[in-house]
Amino acid sequence: MLTQVGAPPVLVISNRGPISFSFGDDGGLVAKRGGGGLVSSLGPLVRDIGATWMAAASTEADVAAAAEGVIDAEGFKFRSLAVDPAAYQMAYDVVSNATLWFLHHGLFDLTRRPRLDRRWREAWDAYRDVNHTFAQAVIDEAPEGAIVLVQDYHLALVGTWLAQDRRDLRAVHFSHIPFCEPGALRVLPSDVAEELLVGMGSHASCGFHARRWAANYEACCMEVLGFEPATFVAPLSPHYDDIAALAARDDCIRELDWVDQMRGDRQLIVRVDRIEPSKNLLRGFWAFDDLLRTRTEWRGRVVFVALIYPSREGLPEYLAYRQEVESVTKVINDRWATPGWTPIVLDTSDNFPRSVAALVRYDVLLVNPVRDGLNLVAKEGPVVNTNNGVLALSREAGAWDELGAVALEVNPFDVAGTADVLAAALTMSAGERKAHAVALATMAAARTPRDWFDDMMSVAGSARGLPDPPTRRSGT
Ligand code: F6P
Repeated sequence: MLTQVGAPPVLVISNRGPISFSFGDDGGLVAKRGGGGLVSSLGPLVRDIGATWMAAASTEADVAAAAEGVIDAEGFKFRSLAVDPAAYQMAYDVVSNATLWFLHHGLFDLTRRPRLDRRWREAWDAYRDVNHTFAQAVIDEAPEGAIVLVQDYHLALVGTWLAQDRRDLRAVHFSHIPFCEPGALRVLPSDVAEELLVGMGSHASCGFHARRWAANYEACCMEVLGFEPATFVAPLSPHYDDIAALAARDDCIRELDWVDQMRGDRQLIVRVDRIEPSKNLLRGFWAFDDLLRTRTEWRGRVVFVALIYPSREGLPEYLAYRQEVESVTKVINDRWATPGWTPIVLDTSDNFPRSVAALVRYDVLLVNPVRDGLNLVAKEGPVVNTNNGVLALSREAGAWDELGAVALEVNPFDVAGTADVLAAALTMSAGERKAHAVALATMAAARTPRDWFDDMMSVAGSARGLPDPPTRRSGT
């Protein structure tokens, strides 16, 4: 068992970890900070309380690190967990990303996807195995009564085995993505839907960034299992001081010049996203095209800087989406560009300081996902922007719950409507912009990552072990 000084002992488990490993010249293990949104939000909080963090080993060096047990590196107590690489790949690509992600974000093109064939069934078995490996490590290593914070849809089933073997643990599950409505869940085979909901419902409680996702999960549990699950809502927020410090860094300041050069004396629309179907990049560009077509006065007077970075390139859907994004951008630029003016500046270089610089400078920030668990950029922008910028925000983003009273409302499916919103944002008076920006910055900074973490800890801490798990109807 892991020994930790001070109470309560806390264990965080997630797909990606705060540390990844490589082999140094001498063949020894070299630790470096891991990437990803979850790690940057959760990392400092986990470090502060000395919790142990367990994550899947995804490279050969990670697997070698797994043999070493808990490693102290970069201020973390980190446990790399060896999972069968083939099973991991099936679980991550086929189930987590191509099925659960698409299901919960409402992305399936139902005439073709999902194709739940025999191979998919093997992938579901692999997903179960990976979840079981995590659960077994927790069962074997968590101290009596430990708090276990299970992160995200990759690990929805972990509670199943904890509820069987370690009822003393106070385990909560937190989803960083939306949760689908009962009607959408019917796409999954009944036994799979049941297994998923039983797995989540076996935790002491399940957390979400927005009330709507919690309500969808509750409705699914009620419809499929006749079970009323415990839930909580705890939106994440950026840390004001951290993001201000980032914006003041030399590399970000240097990138301000790049942004200023792109913008010239024009208005600046910005977006910062992963290249990801749920982010709705295509309709955002078509809306900009509509703006230039219908409001001729904006031709040559506005530039759209899209800082979008590659993601999940192992999935054909993501590669095809990227190609479509690049070709649509080219069509729009070919249609409207004039000497000295490129309407859409597409940057896929994954330049983080540049993204922060663009958030500092925008006149309009477009955040138009078809659906999003939260969308941290919608909060980071208003907190770091110094230009009284306007936020055009999808009502389908979890962040809408907190920012919707002030942000300009985007129906992400309505291209013409989004163009109208962009036009309204570009023509707001200086006074309106100031009031809008001040109100948004206040709302976006109202909570900190620590508030989110404390909410999760207090739900877990007040649980008296794990409840009776829900029962499956099909019994398969
Ligand atoms: O939003 C959910 C999430 O898993 C985040 O934690 C992560 O930053 C993002 O999606 C990217 O996912 P992946 O780890 O698959 O690159």
